[in-house]
Amino acid sequence: MNGNLEKKFDASRPDGRSPNANPEADTGADTEAILQTALRAPSAENTQPWRVERGRTGVLVRYDRSRRMPSDPGGMLDYTGLGALIESIVLAASGRGLLATVEAPPPRDDDDRLPLVADIRFAPGGAPDPLCEFLASRCTTRRMAADKPVPGDLLESMARAVRQPGVRIDWIPAGRVRDVAALVGDATRLRFEHAEYHREFYENLRFTRDEAERTGDGLDVATLQLPPGVASVMRFFRKWSRTRVGNLLGYSRGIGSHAAKEVAGSGAVGMLTVEEPDPGSFLRGGRDFQRVWLEATRLGLAFHPVAGLTVFVGHGERPDAIESPPDLIEKTRQIAGRFRSLAPAASGRTPQMMFRVGYGPRPAVASLRRPIG
Ligand SMILES: Cc1cc2nc3c(=O)[nH]c(=O)nc-3n(C[C@H](O)[C@H](O)[C@H](O)COP(=O)(O)O)c2cc1C
Repeated sequence: MNGNLEKKFDASRPDGRSPNANPEADTGADTEAILQTALRAPSAENTQPWRVERGRTGVLVRYDRSRRMPSDPGGMLDYTGLGALIESIVLAASGRGLLATVEAPPPRDDDDRLPLVADIRFAPGGAPDPLCEFLASRCTTRRMAADKPVPGDLLESMARAVRQPGVRIDWIPAGRVRDVAALVGDATRLRFEHAEYHREFYENLRFTRDEAERTGDGLDVATLQLPPGVASVMRFFRKWSRTRVGNLLGYSRGIGSHAAKEVAGSGAVGMLTVEEPDPGSFLRGGRDFQRVWLEATRLGLAFHPVAGLTVFVGHGERPDAIESPPDLIEKTRQIAGRFRSLAPAASGRTPQMMFRVGYGPRPAVASLRRPIG
């Protein structure tokens, strides 16, 4: 019965892969448990751009391109989330005494709507990685105490969590944080000044628990740790016509200032960079992004990804990777230029993700996930 199913899988896949190739090492029961834990992996705006196929000896992870956000340059955010999922699977397997081998074929940039990004096989013999204990409790913490620095030894410990070739963590020097924060503010503001990106943001927002439960994805406002009244303001600006008028009165500027203030008051601001702006590098970067986040969780730190700056630097520096609205192109070039002058540590490298760390309470409500499928 299973064998027939496997054959059907193979025949229907352009890459001909099946996760069931080695029936001797049946890890089916473990696979269920591994996925339950690993699918808590983070993704940009909780879009979960993945499809996972289970087998008796492993899993296949596919990229569901239909979930890509229009503002994502070359799928950089999606590959970050996919990398985080792959690392989570490897770690969850280690927690069950399994060694996971990841084969990541070069992601294909063609018409395949569900390209394979990782073929992961489980075999007995893995030792638990200490980070696997933190997969379930990792979360995004957006509310942090202002101006409470994180000690250098903790920052070093986070940077040491990196395992993949070509991936690096740098910390923004204290004397530069204000300027970088102002740049984050300007990048954040851009998103609310363009109808297409305003729409993408609202498509991913869930204003009630019912809405969040119906889709199992997106940003449930209850998880965002917003000050009282802010969710109602966001709801009011759902219509682009209102936001456009609001922007004339300083709405987008206000959002940018808020983002800048948050970054300026962080315990530390980190930057993950990779060698090349290609899917393989971003996947590796995503794997290590998850490790750094889990290490922060292990150390009792709050962690908040800040993607707006690296996204718009991507628009400015890699115009072939994204169709930017025409009036945005010059602005993103300027953002990229300012970024390069402020972050010499990233010179010759591709900035993939920025993040804040510090001290703050976990959100009272956990983000949801779509069923495994
Ligand atoms: C690639 C990536 C980019 C993200 N960018 C942001 C961001 O710019 N701002 C933010 O508040 N959260 C950001 N997040 C956090 C996600 O919104 C969050 O992981 C997701 O909603 C699931 O929630 P959880 O992390 O609490 O499980 C990002 C996460 C990832 C993986």
